[in-house]
Amino acid sequence: MSEFEKEKASEICKQENEEAWNQLTYEAWINKFGTSDKAAERIRQNSEKVLSVLLPKFGDVNGKKIANLMGSNGTKAVALAMLGAEAVVMDFSEGNRRYAMELAESAGVSIRYVLENVVELPEEELTGDYDIVFAEIGILHYFTDLHPLFQTAFRLLKKDGIFVLRDFHPVSNKLITSRGTTAKIRKHKVTGDYFSTELVESEISFAKYMPESETRKVYLRKWNLGEIITAMAQVGFHIEGLDEEPNMSCEQFDKGIPKTFTIKARK
Ligand SMILES: C[S@@+](CC[C@H](N)C(=O)[O-])C[C@H]1O[C@@H](n2cnc3c(N)ncnc32)[C@H](O)[C@@H]1O
Repeated sequence: MSEFEKEKASEICKQENEEAWNQLTYEAWINKFGTSDKAAERIRQNSEKVLSVLLPKFGDVNGKKIANLMGSNGTKAVALAMLGAEAVVMDFSEGNRRYAMELAESAGVSIRYVLENVVELPEEELTGDYDIVFAEIGILHYFTDLHPLFQTAFRLLKKDGIFVLRDFHPVSNKLITSRGTTAKIRKHKVTGDYFSTELVESEISFAKYMPESETRKVYLRKWNLGEIITAMAQVGFHIEGLDEEPNMSCEQFDKGIPKTFTIKARK
């Protein structure tokens, strides 16, 4: 691809993804989680579990100022607010914002929702006083260049602030294809190219909670681990750890295959 074609592809990818995430998102969350009252009750019952492996990386969150980049329906932010944090979501989907604010109200906590593209935040949002910035699960593939995203995290954080990034492991979502619904018959095949830089057309992640006629495609750039770590170091982060995680919901299913990864970095 020429530089001109690359720029055009990146522009199309950005526009299509933003439109897709503004399509019936609120309705999709109601279909998945039920009303905000029900969802808030579930979070209240176990807000620490909702935060899963993120919480040990954050440490004590009480009184901490925390930004969840691309924080979607606000589940994590509400759980953090319940634990005493000042939680801010930054995400460009109005349907997500509506669901998140209702969820916070039902939970009896306060969160702030910044309805913006995370790589085009207004200067006044880049305050450099956050203790923790995090982004997780289904994040990086929306960007054709990782540097602007990591620069946003860097500029939000105070000195020594923590950036935690958790996403799908490229071995599972870029390199191999898996078939079979039980551990016994499950088979894995190398079908992908770990080094591919192509954009891949895909269904939006909440498609199954929307009417089929309404679903939109998104365009994804899947990154390998070397590209991710390098981009993070290049914007100035000190990498403190990279955990590669197996299937956390069932030990036997896809045993031995990395499913997700979590990076902890410091400004
Ligand atoms: C798969 S979700 C992330 C998962 C989320 N952490 C959760 O727990 O549901 C992707 C989110 O990123 C948002 N998004 C994608 N690109 C964005 C961008 N450039 N700026 C702001 N939000 C973006 C979408 O609106 C969506 O809420």
